[in-house]
Amino acid sequence: MAFLKFPDGFQWGAATASYQIEGSPRADGKGLSIWDVFCQQPGRVQGGDTGDVACDHYRRFREDVALMKRLGLQTYRFSIAWPRVQPFGAGDANEKGLDFYARLVDELLAAGIQPCATLYHWDLPQALQDLGGWPERSTAQKFADYAALVFARLGDRVTRWITHNEPIVTSMMGYRAGVLAPGIRDVGLAGRAIHHLLLSHGLAVAAFRASGKRGEIGITHANTSYEPADATAESAAACELARDFDTRTWHGPVYGKDYPESVLRYYESRGVPLPIAPGDLKTIAAPTDFLGVNLYSRRQVLSDGTRGVGYRNAPPRLPLLPMGYEAAPFALGDFLRFVSAEYDRPKIYVTENGVCDNTPPAADGKSVPDVERTELLRGFIAGMHAAMTQAGVDVRAYYVWSLLDNFEWAFGYSKRFGIVWTDFATQARIPKQSAAFFSDLIRKNGLEA
Ligand code: GCO
Repeated sequence: MAFLKFPDGFQWGAATASYQIEGSPRADGKGLSIWDVFCQQPGRVQGGDTGDVACDHYRRFREDVALMKRLGLQTYRFSIAWPRVQPFGAGDANEKGLDFYARLVDELLAAGIQPCATLYHWDLPQALQDLGGWPERSTAQKFADYAALVFARLGDRVTRWITHNEPIVTSMMGYRAGVLAPGIRDVGLAGRAIHHLLLSHGLAVAAFRASGKRGEIGITHANTSYEPADATAESAAACELARDFDTRTWHGPVYGKDYPESVLRYYESRGVPLPIAPGDLKTIAAPTDFLGVNLYSRRQVLSDGTRGVGYRNAPPRLPLLPMGYEAAPFALGDFLRFVSAEYDRPKIYVTENGVCDNTPPAADGKSVPDVERTELLRGFIAGMHAAMTQAGVDVRAYYVWSLLDNFEWAFGYSKRFGIVWTDFATQARIPKQSAAFFSDLIRKNGLEA
């Protein structure tokens, strides 16, 4: 084991999302989100769970910020619920909704914790879904209008902005697979959502620049580190296809490259070409200040001509975690090297990395021995350190997913990602062994690995 020291100024934080922790779905004029509606549809969420209470963070945010301070967090990534700001997705701001985020930001700043705000983490106003949602081009401008309201109100105190969290999940899981809100299964609508989500990102970046506010803005994508399952040329080609659909579709247009030919052909051949209008790619490529990287695992792939995308996932070779991911701590460093080389070494924040580990509190009811999470986090972070020191990847911050066990979308409360245990019956918070590990890492700005 060696001590791995991170650069001075490297920031350590934790991440959450509005629908997953806040509760209070109708408080202070908030409108319905697609998740409020989705959870009410029988069979959509495991156990019939909803985000109606979650971690009750809307009411308990001050105690949670105090907890973050005790843990030593230097920055905190949260998301803003669009339906709190514009209950129906357009028009004047709901001041009480914005006030919640202003109070949260002030509490963070008073605790010496830098806020990092995500404008969209999947909770679209239902009223906009009723008008077509992300497949509808007008939603892109509405998102930019919403963003402008938020920048005006919080832009004097928040200086790190993320436009979207994982638009691939919004489009592919929400409009193609239908397993997440709004639960639609339509390849054409999914393709339209792809393009309009990215267009909305570009429009929101332009709105930020026009606001004149200080600070930085970027986008966060979901990522998997892809590898060929064997040494054949077919598997190597399959790996590039996986990277086309999963990585290049999302990063390429943001960094001034077109959509991959394989992806454009995929939608054209189904009679639903991506709805790219003249000037759109220029709008999407508006210069950004950083890239947000979310990653949890790796996948090995094989060529498969029977599949529309031309590849399939190979059977796992590593132990599986409760989410079905392989326990692959090397994957973060591997992907960081790939994405840094692919897009000309952008400034990167790891905006989500973590482990599903459902270990319950020990008999004392005061400690949670989540050893697997702790050791996998150690491995992920060591891999990130190697990518920085050996390959020159420019990572400036790391946000662990998540601060608290919370609502894990269609899995409800059955999958725990927090470094702090949430007792959903009592709303008690219990810092886990991984929280102690993380606090020590922050104090030392490094770790033994
Ligand atoms: C994601 C989302 C988070 C998840 C987390 C665990 O990356 O899927 O940003 O909301 O809860 O990743 O699955």
